[in-house]
Amino acid sequence: MRQKIESSSFFIGRGDDSLISFGSGQPDLPPPPEAFEALRTYNGFKYGLVQGDLVLRQELAKEYPGAKPEDFVITNGCSEAIDLTLRALQKPGGKVLLPRPYYYSYPHNVALAGMTPSFYDLNAQGKIDFDVFVKAAEGCSVALINSPSNPTGTVQELATLKKIEAFCDEHGMAIISDEVYKDIIYVRENYLMQGKHVVTVNSFSKSYAMCGYRVGYLYSQDAAIVKRTIEIKNHTAMNTSGVGQAVALAALRARQPYVDERLAIWKERRELMYTGMKELGLDVWAPEGAFYIFPKITDATRAMHDLYYEYQMITYTGEWFGARDRLRFSYALTTEKIHEGLRRLKLFLEKEYAAYR
Ligand SMILES: Cc1ncc(COP(=O)(O)O)c(C=O)c1O
Repeated sequence: MRQKIESSSFFIGRGDDSLISFGSGQPDLPPPPEAFEALRTYNGFKYGLVQGDLVLRQELAKEYPGAKPEDFVITNGCSEAIDLTLRALQKPGGKVLLPRPYYYSYPHNVALAGMTPSFYDLNAQGKIDFDVFVKAAEGCSVALINSPSNPTGTVQELATLKKIEAFCDEHGMAIISDEVYKDIIYVRENYLMQGKHVVTVNSFSKSYAMCGYRVGYLYSQDAAIVKRTIEIKNHTAMNTSGVGQAVALAALRARQPYVDERLAIWKERRELMYTGMKELGLDVWAPEGAFYIFPKITDATRAMHDLYYEYQMITYTGEWFGARDRLRFSYALTTEKIHEGLRRLKLFLEKEYAAYR
């Protein structure tokens, strides 16, 4: 009997050697060796500053032009940074503008902060159409931007990001810029959205392959927002794990050549996935960043079930991301496994999938 797969929690942590997992967005490669060294020597067991370790914030400030250590709050991953920021920006009856397809937690994050998500669709190239954005922004007090994006793998145009920055500034809208994939970008340098109305959220999960340590941060030049998020954190999670922060600091100091070396590995996998999918005749956006590819598939939820139960392959249905005609593949796995996954996908397309239409 097949069990119905309702959410990604069905897959997370599942896996054996026969399974090819294009599921979870978690790097398979280890963090920098310096991170392991920090683990060996760390001996702090007390509560830490709710805002986060000062030395880590000082190191982070070097990454952002004009930033000061007091502009940062160290959080339990980017997830907590999004949650705290939304709650700090909460307005009764407030609406938050989200792109669709979206990272699947966003609508839940917005609802948990007591606000309502308001969606606009990305265009046929997986990009934001500024006019569509402006129309949808009516009545919204916050816009969430995610470039490079999960699940689309696309990167937003520089000109559009700058127009959004100016528009939101002019109309008193806050921007939450989720830059969790800022170091995994193939088509240009990452553009950091800027301004007092922008809150950047990020983490060590993807750039430094340490998802399980749960270390992220928010960065804002608005002292009132920083203060509010600290106060909420003070009465919820309190400080982020001390050992996690020590490991994150060591990873950050070992930034180069680690980040560039990883990017070269991601690029190789991206080529393999993209050309493999094109050869299979799939309609797909060329990945421009992050490590996801999001081809069109008729009845993606059925395809996800068939691929898992008949081909031992994990994929995530686009339905979870607001796109029921697409299937998400994370290519955070070795080239050997990618080859094997593409082989199984070919069999699926020739057999089961042919019966869908
Ligand atoms: C776009 C996006 N934002 C936030 C997160 C959460 O990351 P973290 O592990 O830092 O909480 C993810 C994780 O996949 C993501 O893809």
